[in-house]
Amino acid sequence: MSSSPRVAEPGTGVRVRAPGKLNLALGVGRRQIDGYHPLATVFQAVSAYEDVTATRAEGVSVTVSGLQADLVPTGEDNLAVRAALLLAEATGAEPDVHLHLHKGVPVAGGMAGGSADAAATLVACDALWGTGLDRDQMAELAALLGSDVPFALHGHTAVGRGRGHLISPAMTRGEYHWALGLRHSGLSTPAVYAAFDALIGDAAPDEPRLDAELMRALRAGDAVALGAALTNDLQPAALELAPELAETLAVAQDAGALGVLVSGSGPTVAALAAGGSRALAIGSAMLAAGVADEVLHVVGPVPGARVTAIDQGDDAW
Ligand code: C5P
Repeated sequence: MSSSPRVAEPGTGVRVRAPGKLNLALGVGRRQIDGYHPLATVFQAVSAYEDVTATRAEGVSVTVSGLQADLVPTGEDNLAVRAALLLAEATGAEPDVHLHLHKGVPVAGGMAGGSADAAATLVACDALWGTGLDRDQMAELAALLGSDVPFALHGHTAVGRGRGHLISPAMTRGEYHWALGLRHSGLSTPAVYAAFDALIGDAAPDEPRLDAELMRALRAGDAVALGAALTNDLQPAALELAPELAETLAVAQDAGALGVLVSGSGPTVAALAAGGSRALAIGSAMLAAGVADEVLHVVGPVPGARVTAIDQGDDAW
């Protein structure tokens, strides 16, 4: 991996924005022989974003700024680096790019920030290198990078099956406001799944199902019904590894949330609010009670990975 990138020439830089996600429902089945768990999940993309700027350079390199940037690895285990190398390998393109990740999604927070980096990098390098992949080809590469990467490409609200990588759009109405309680100590996704195996094990179903009430609430744009229907089968496992999250959930609920849950494998806590000012109030309550290190107010659904700027050598870049 080369160290310092060359300065981009006009037309040689692309910026892509990709969203973090919440799981409004996360049904988890029994561990399969490959170590993965079959899922029935409803993803919602929310307005916490990763902005990835790809510029021509020699070799592949990465720098990181923004939220919890110091926690992000910058070697070949960085998911954006892996995405660039995979795209180059799959298409025969020269893997020449410098990636700058500006983070707005918590690291190891259960919101798929690394997956958003990977999705954004696929879109950015495809544009930069002119590899011309269609969305299906890109989704195939995305699934090789991680279970949540295809959804970061897709965005909006969608049902995820298989490992979470088989995406189909969900009918939804309206906009939802969320207060997010962040913790600086992240949780490892494999560790949470291992705790799930220890707690539930063979009692987990072969094929988890989605709750019809939740799908109905989304179709109707009914935030109250949605709040009552939020579920996460990984929550008991996340609470076992991070018992302090129980307090975060309780404080958010008491502050008037329509529903609360741990996001994905945690430790981020998501509280659905009746509107923007309610979300701010719930966030303030979490901070005041000392049950979150940081809070964010986000809305969903928002689109998946998309180009937001191209370097044309003018001031706009
Ligand atoms: O696919 P991804 O690399 O994001 O998954 C990270 C880890 O999460 C896997 O190694 C596995 O331990 C766990 N996982 C799982 N079942 C899924 C998705 C992820 O057990 N459906």
